[in-house]
Amino acid sequence: MHELKGLILSGGRGTRLRPITHTSAKQLVPVANKPVLFYGIEAMAQAGIDQVGIIIAPETGDEIRAAAGDGSRFGVKLSYIVQDQPLGLAHAVLTAEPFLGDAPFVMYLGDNLLQGGIEDLVNAFRTNQPDALILLTPVPDPEQYGVAELRDGSVVRLVEKPSEPQTDLALVGVYMFTSCVHAAAKAITPSLRGELEITDAIQQLVDDGLRVEPHVVKGWWKDTGRLEDMLAANRLVLDTIGARMDGELIDSQVEGRVVIEPGAQLWRCTVRGPAIIGAGASLRDCYIGPYTAIGEACTIENAEVEHSILLAGSSVRDLAGRMEASLLGRNVKIGRDLRQPRAFRFLVGDNSEIGIL
Ligand code: TTP
Repeated sequence: MHELKGLILSGGRGTRLRPITHTSAKQLVPVANKPVLFYGIEAMAQAGIDQVGIIIAPETGDEIRAAAGDGSRFGVKLSYIVQDQPLGLAHAVLTAEPFLGDAPFVMYLGDNLLQGGIEDLVNAFRTNQPDALILLTPVPDPEQYGVAELRDGSVVRLVEKPSEPQTDLALVGVYMFTSCVHAAAKAITPSLRGELEITDAIQQLVDDGLRVEPHVVKGWWKDTGRLEDMLAANRLVLDTIGARMDGELIDSQVEGRVVIEPGAQLWRCTVRGPAIIGAGASLRDCYIGPYTAIGEACTIENAEVEHSILLAGSSVRDLAGRMEASLLGRNVKIGRDLRQPRAFRFLVGDNSEIGIL
């Protein structure tokens, strides 16, 4: 078998995570203070894949290049491949064909997280040598996903977001292909939503009599395309962290597993883990509850925050109630306004959402 390559899809529109995606790539939203994308790159490195192509969109590509660089810090060589328009996952594969050549490859959706990495699956792919290997997991709402119907342990049919699902096995956003997927992706036509669907390309492989091997994943899998999924991924990853204290506590206490990064200072605070406080954050008179990730250089004063993700440079001050289940972008300011007349005052971009007490 040729050397396996990696392909990470980090383009797309990200409409379900607006307004965050108006200004930034969703794959760079941090989960436990590390961009989602980096988990995928690390999984590739861990599985011994050293040539990784990253599909980027023209709008957010530069930001992704700046964040991930040449890959040396992950121990892989990264190549960037611009997809002019987000015309579907199978279109992304075709866009990457010059990079992939004849090599078999692992395709990883850049906004997905898979517990336990991909090493075992890559080994199964190398050993069993199917034409493609897909990962599946049972979900409560299969109509939201691409699903696979199996018979006697083989894949017989794939359907994208079925209105009447015949199975609860959803396709996880990690796939393994041999180069025959290129011909399959060329043979299909766009779906009703105008995209070249990877499910249709895999169906084409099945119809051509090629061997598509299913694997039901054992650990958790998360697609972070929506706010609630992003928060769930943050919970799952924070559940695995160990405590570390590199910042400064002044009349403050931490309970449970809490990471405090260098330069962070906490005055009169209580932090109840699992939680992470980013480098240079400044926290005064506040309570940080479980499943919270506070980004670099954030400021929190006289407030309670839990089960939330704050990106770098944001501040939260003087809240009368506890903030929870929230995602704040970079440099967001939330605070009490004491000017007269007493009123709510907002300056928010398109598609923002605000819930008040
Ligand atoms: P999706 O989350 O299915 O699509 P999207 O990013 O356009 O988001 P939304 O539905 O909220 O508008 O994409 C899965 C991953 O694949 C994600 O990391 C983006 C990436 N992607 C591409 O790189 N190219 C594409 O053409 C598409 C559709 C997605």
